[in-house]
Amino acid sequence: MTMEQEMTFPMKRCPFAPPPQYAKLREKAPVSKVTLPGGDWAWLITRYEDVRAVLGDNRFSTQPNTPGYPFIAPARAALLKNETPPTFIRMDPPEHGKYRRMLTKEFMVKHVEAMRPAIVELIDGLLGEMIRSGPPADFFEDFALQVPTTVISKILGVPREDEPFFQDRSKAKLDLAADPKVPVQAAADMREYLDRLIHDKEAKSNSSDDLITRLLAEQVMPGHMSRDELRAMVELLIIGGHETTANTIALGTLSLLEHPEQKEALAANPALANTAVEEILRFHTPVHYNGARAAMEDVTIGGQLIRKGDGVLAMINSANRDAEVFDHPDGFDIRRQSLRHLAFSYGVHQCIGQPLARAELQSVFSVLFLRLPKLALSVPLSEIPFRYDAFVFGVDAMPVTW
Ligand code: HEM
Repeated sequence: MTMEQEMTFPMKRCPFAPPPQYAKLREKAPVSKVTLPGGDWAWLITRYEDVRAVLGDNRFSTQPNTPGYPFIAPARAALLKNETPPTFIRMDPPEHGKYRRMLTKEFMVKHVEAMRPAIVELIDGLLGEMIRSGPPADFFEDFALQVPTTVISKILGVPREDEPFFQDRSKAKLDLAADPKVPVQAAADMREYLDRLIHDKEAKSNSSDDLITRLLAEQVMPGHMSRDELRAMVELLIIGGHETTANTIALGTLSLLEHPEQKEALAANPALANTAVEEILRFHTPVHYNGARAAMEDVTIGGQLIRKGDGVLAMINSANRDAEVFDHPDGFDIRRQSLRHLAFSYGVHQCIGQPLARAELQSVFSVLFLRLPKLALSVPLSEIPFRYDAFVFGVDAMPVTW
């Protein structure tokens, strides 16, 4: 592939692999110009070292109002341009750190480990319910989605009966192929809902021990954060907290079903769940469109000068398949040590929820095939509705039997 060839972004992925063009680009043109859906262009970065260099360099901005910020779809542009106030995922330092620090304690490994017994119990209960009702089931709807949704609802103090509402609105917000009005409306619905929820919690002040109530008391009341900023933060936690993990559970299960020998090995030795989870994260990289940045200064990446005002797409899904870093990168191997993967990103925005995601995923994969040793898809893999056009890759449904 030559630099002169016009390339358009996004390119189509296969369900279990990033777009095949990325492999050629990593080899021949690791920093390449691509045309975006809106007609602008950006630098597509595909090698591990370069992706990490961009994500770890604060001269690249995540703020959509920075000149050159690359919008990967009209739906995404409409959503990000209408976001008021923004959340810290789209703020640069030092402002970013101020808000992120309000949550550090809550998502620290020590704090999350204290939640692990309750997570294990929840998973046990959900699998028990599936087994009691008998096959068939929708593994995504009945299990994968329920695990992280229930956990994040409990942390935040969101009523269980509201879960279908926010699951539906989150999905609409992340749909890149939708009419731009759809995610904008979904964001407005979420705002209205969360304003009500926060108002109710304020009225009951301090009567419950949940994260929203704590943030109201510790950050909003003393004036460190406005109510609107709290609302935006809660929304980020709701979406970040369930979409990603739910789809990782589904995709990981699909890969294990595709590799029966590895599935058997995991069932026989649940201690393999830790490396299995890292491999699932590396192999699938569910947040497959992560990495939009804008250069605030001239920076050289991989030998290419990137000018102030240029847009950059530092693709973590491509980095996670780089043969310079991972042996046989397109192979799925739950015994490999994949710890250097970038599925949680890198740099100041590296996922704050990763200890929680790991606790949920490790708990799932250490028991799933013990409880359901005969778990199998009830339709051919080719009939699984994959979410190609979603910001977080995954499935819409996963019919199973056992
Ligand atoms: C498998 C599960 C997960 C994956 C793959 C994942 C992935 C990511 C990625 C790639 C980013 C970086 C965004 C960027 O560079 O712009 C991120 C940030 C973030 N994630 Fe996660 N995430 C997961 C689970 C969670 C959970 C469970 C929570 C909530 C508790 C969460 C909350 C967040 C937040 C708040 C940020 C923003 C961090 C910042 O900008 O400083 N994530 N996540």
